[in-house]
Amino acid sequence: MKHCDNFLVSEKKFLNTSFFKLKLKSKKALPEINPGQFVEIQVNSDSKVLLRRPISINDVDYTTNEVSLIIQTVGQGTKELAKISEGEELSLIYPLGNGFETKGENPLLIGGGVGIAPLLYLAKQFCAKGIKPDVLLGFRSKEQMIALDEFEKYSNLYISTQDGSIGEKGLVTENKIFLASHDVIYTCGPTPMMKAIAEHALKNNTECFASLENKMACGIGACLCCVQNTTQGHKCTCTEGPVFNVKDIIW
Ligand SMILES: Cc1cc2nc3c(=O)[nH]c(=O)nc-3n(C[C@H](O)[C@H](O)[C@H](O)COP(=O)(O)OP(=O)(O)OC[C@H]3O[C@@H](n4cnc5c(N)ncnc54)[C@H](O)[C@@H]3O)c2cc1C
Ligand code: FES
Repeated sequence: MKHCDNFLVSEKKFLNTSFFKLKLKSKKALPEINPGQFVEIQVNSDSKVLLRRPISINDVDYTTNEVSLIIQTVGQGTKELAKISEGEELSLIYPLGNGFETKGENPLLIGGGVGIAPLLYLAKQFCAKGIKPDVLLGFRSKEQMIALDEFEKYSNLYISTQDGSIGEKGLVTENKIFLASHDVIYTCGPTPMMKAIAEHALKNNTECFASLENKMACGIGACLCCVQNTTQGHKCTCTEGPVFNVKDIIW
């Protein structure tokens, strides 16, 4: 069931020059939220940013009824959101999309850029099942890295940077942990990265799930602007995704 509620901005923290993290507190008990689900966040009442923006749920704390979001400022809506202050309120429609299942005994979670956001809660859910997952995060450089301390708590963490400023130099698909054996791969990040991971997984008969970030407007299956071509026809990324088994995706 979807909810539309106002949340209090209980914490706001800039992680570097383009990323910030919000902790948002609900006035009521949170419903069950799956890793990989997202919120549609209302920016403000300005007609230039009328459409809500889809943002992944980075973490959930049922004891305090807080959800965390990590947001990268890219355009007008996210720049407006970066101006919000602690104590103000934001309207969220949530939890949206299907989210990730926690399948596998030896999973590998791979995130690139802001695509790392939903993988923290996924790693936590694996830990709750007694499985500490391997997590591989890719960034352009050390300056772009975010949220590593939290991932360290819930995973065996591996890093790739394109300039080699930290971790292994190169793409995530060149990292030694990517080439090791895993029974399921979960990924979220830039499309070329996910496509390369999907090709590798299909070639090696490894089950693989990708969270797509198609452009969205309504977030509830009404406008059809987020459709993804799949082997079973066109699917709405907002309601039937954003997580798809890569064997079904026609990239
Ligand atoms: C399921 C999902 C989860 C996401 N999770 C995160 C996250 O955790 N953190 C984060 O920083 N970003 C995330 N994104 C991307 C984020 O939604 C866009 O960066 C944001 O909407 C851009 O808005 P803007 O007004 O700043 O940019 P503009 O380019 O000005 O946006 C114009 C319009 O296009 C839409 N749009 C633009 N880029 C995207 C995009 N990549 N995906 C979907 N819609 C887009 C916007 O919603 C808006 O309606 C996610 C996207 C999806 C689909
Ligand atoms: S965003 Fe409108 S149908 Fe998916």
